[in-house]
Amino acid sequence: MDLFEYQARDLFEAHGVPVLAGIVADTPEAARAAAEQLGGVTVVKAQVKIGGRGKAGGVKVAKNPDEAFAAAQQILGLDIKGHIVERVMVAAGANIAEEYYFSVLLDRANRNYLAMCSVEGGMEIEQLAAERPEALARVAVDPIVGIDEAKAREIVAQAGFEAETAEKVVPVLQKLYEVYRDEDATLVEVNPLVLTAEGDVIALDGKVTLDDNAEFRHPDHESLRVAAGGLDPLEEKAKAHDLNYVKLDGQVGVIGNGAGLVMSTLDVVAGAGEKHGGVKPANFLDIGGGASAEVMAAGLDVILGDEQVKSVFVNVFGGITACDAVANGIVGALKTLGDTASKPLVVRLDGNNVEAGRTILDEFNHPLVTVVATMDEAADKAAELAAAAA
Ligand SMILES: Nc1ncnc2c1ncn2[C@@H]1O[C@H](COP(=O)(O)OP(=O)(O)OP(=O)(O)O)[C@@H](O)[C@H]1O
Ligand SMILES: [Mg+2]
Repeated sequence: MDLFEYQARDLFEAHGVPVLAGIVADTPEAARAAAEQLGGVTVVKAQVKIGGRGKAGGVKVAKNPDEAFAAAQQILGLDIKGHIVERVMVAAGANIAEEYYFSVLLDRANRNYLAMCSVEGGMEIEQLAAERPEALARVAVDPIVGIDEAKAREIVAQAGFEAETAEKVVPVLQKLYEVYRDEDATLVEVNPLVLTAEGDVIALDGKVTLDDNAEFRHPDHESLRVAAGGLDPLEEKAKAHDLNYVKLDGQVGVIGNGAGLVMSTLDVVAGAGEKHGGVKPANFLDIGGGASAEVMAAGLDVILGDEQVKSVFVNVFGGITACDAVANGIVGALKTLGDTASKPLVVRLDGNNVEAGRTILDEFNHPLVTVVATMDEAADKAAELAAAAA
């Protein structure tokens, strides 16, 4: 789960990372009141889960409450790369002398954590990373040790901070690592981490991604999730049925039993899709070992609820749950769903009791169901049907 900047700010504050005061507002009037409360210069900032807000006109300096009102009026409702701004944060204005960059993230490829840091932070960081990668220090962080003082010193040394600033940045990096570790984050990014004219180091912007798999030990994160707008409605529905579902951006719905089979199904569908106008898998959905009628119905219901889906590929390998049981599950699901099941279904069954399973589907003879013998042929058929319906 990605957090909004104001939520990241609150977590930072709770862990002792230096931040500035900030108040969330969803109307220009509330923004004016917030600016009055904060006093002095404020910065009105769009709260959307996407970078580059500043460049898109989503961050504006306000010298007084009336300017904060006007800024909020301009920013609320703004479309920033497809994200509509519903809230702003009115933040106390910092007197910035320098802008730095710091992040710590889960480095899946190296099975490790990675810290990145630069003395040239700010809104051009992507460009810096692309054009002068040497200006962005990359330091591996051992999860057992974390960012202790020694590691923080290594990071600031490699980033090239001068001695006096380095002393101030080191404890902030340690605190930011505490946020990362204690909140079970997969990303904590601060851009910019600033040095103010008064000589303070402050986290002025924060991006935090929390690890959903660690949710069970963070009941306190539930309120963040609610405020963050929760899950996608389809993911919410899948979760309620204990289904492993991830929405993707394609047109071919995929259901399979077993994570490995579903993963390879996504690959095969993507491959087949290239021959059919570039259609792609619409989701990952693993219904697990059981594949009962209820589970199949719940899975189909979730997938058919995705407007982008034009066809569905049910790919099942009968093991402990044999193909006839799965076929009965599909029949039961289609009966349960009735008219809701309105998109073509391509079914590939193989494994234990495959003949019995195919016979059940043949006899059911549903107009939307096509039974195909192999995974490749089935993927091709599903992609073809999706392309035809698109
Ligand atoms: N509280 C503040 N006081 C003064 N200046 C600020 C404040 N907050 C942000 N700024 C300025 O606005 C710039 C953009 O702000 P911020 O980094 O929060 O948004 P952003 O454009 O979304 O960044 P990113 O692309 O990193 O997500 C900062 O680099 C900084 O110069
Ligand atoms: Mg930023």
